[in-house]
Amino acid sequence: MNSAHDTETTQTTVTEDVIDLGIGHPGLSLLPVDLVGDSARAAFERGDPRMLQYGYEQGAGEFREALAGFLERTTGSPLAPADLFVSGGVSQALDLLSSLFTRPGDLVFVEEPTYFLSLRIFADHGLRVRSIPTDADGLDVDALTEALGEETPAFLYTIPVHQNPTGATMSEPRRRRLVELAEEHGFLVLADEVYQLLTYEGDAPGPFSRFIDTGRVCALGSFSKILAPGLRMGWISADGEILRRIVGSGFLDSGGGLAPVSSALLHAAVADGRLERHVAGLRAAYRARRDALVVALGAPPAGAPAGDAALLRVTAPQGGYFIWAELPEGTSAVEVLPRAREAGVGFVPGPRFSATESLSRYLRISFSYYDPERIAEGARRLLSVL
Ligand SMILES: Cc1ncc(COP(=O)(O)O)c(C=O)c1O
Repeated sequence: MNSAHDTETTQTTVTEDVIDLGIGHPGLSLLPVDLVGDSARAAFERGDPRMLQYGYEQGAGEFREALAGFLERTTGSPLAPADLFVSGGVSQALDLLSSLFTRPGDLVFVEEPTYFLSLRIFADHGLRVRSIPTDADGLDVDALTEALGEETPAFLYTIPVHQNPTGATMSEPRRRRLVELAEEHGFLVLADEVYQLLTYEGDAPGPFSRFIDTGRVCALGSFSKILAPGLRMGWISADGEILRRIVGSGFLDSGGGLAPVSSALLHAAVADGRLERHVAGLRAAYRARRDALVVALGAPPAGAPAGDAALLRVTAPQGGYFIWAELPEGTSAVEVLPRAREAGVGFVPGPRFSATESLSRYLRISFSYYDPERIAEGARRLLSVL
């Protein structure tokens, strides 16, 4: 396991006897060695040396065309290849956008709670962070309006669909209000949609790429959760002016496009429906894992309001990787964690997801990494500690 993502594992060494439900990685059995291997063989057999050359800054045109087709088929929203940039994944995209659109000391808004490793990227850029509350419908736009009465950020970072860690999805009216506010106040919205295609019930709202023509929105996607994080590959959809800033950066001028080999390799799998079939299989596998966790925790089914599952208040998410659970008043997840580890189970305590280290009564439980039996066993161990 690489060091960057050891932090994602509650600093627990992954051993046979600890079921670390803090791990937010795809399950090993769900990483498609055959799909990527077949694609690689096909690409190398073509023998075109240009795949090993410096790549076009925006990403290879024919790959962006295939990607736009894939995204249109899977999200139902049309997207022009010209509005896509092939990134090195969401983490790299956040780093690049922070470099290009902020200066040290600038203010950015994040959700409370938020994806904790994004906070490290913003800290690397010397950014000041202000948290905006969220609820079951995602970002609280009234609280945002109030905050905007006091100060304007360079950008607002949101995870609008199956959020990490809460699992919540931002409602359509709030999405529209957020974009209006961005236009009125002149800040950027960075929408991190890594879980957009991992919806297990109903339909997720359309992606933020629908709003890029406002010139205020960057929609960030990734192959990490739908294919393989090891590829370090994703995309940004944004309007011409923003894309010109990205593509014109010194970083890309020097090194060229970010994923020429992986793009050449995956082109056919993205274009010919194989990736789509893989994603459909992932949805079924993750749905089963989520259900195993929900049942073992004794929580109400997805879509139902939060219930008291034994000593844990839980809302089952309709997609993504995570369940966000609340402990009773006066209980701290940070204090429970060492006892949980002794019982052979891990999770990530709430303060990790807070820019102000609050949320001590919450914990994030992941259902992505283990098979349903191990997940259920992990949940039983957790309940035994509580
Ligand atoms: C919300 C969110 N954004 C970004 C990432 C990392 O994305 P990538 O692998 O594309 O850098 C993760 C991974 O856990 C995540 O949950």
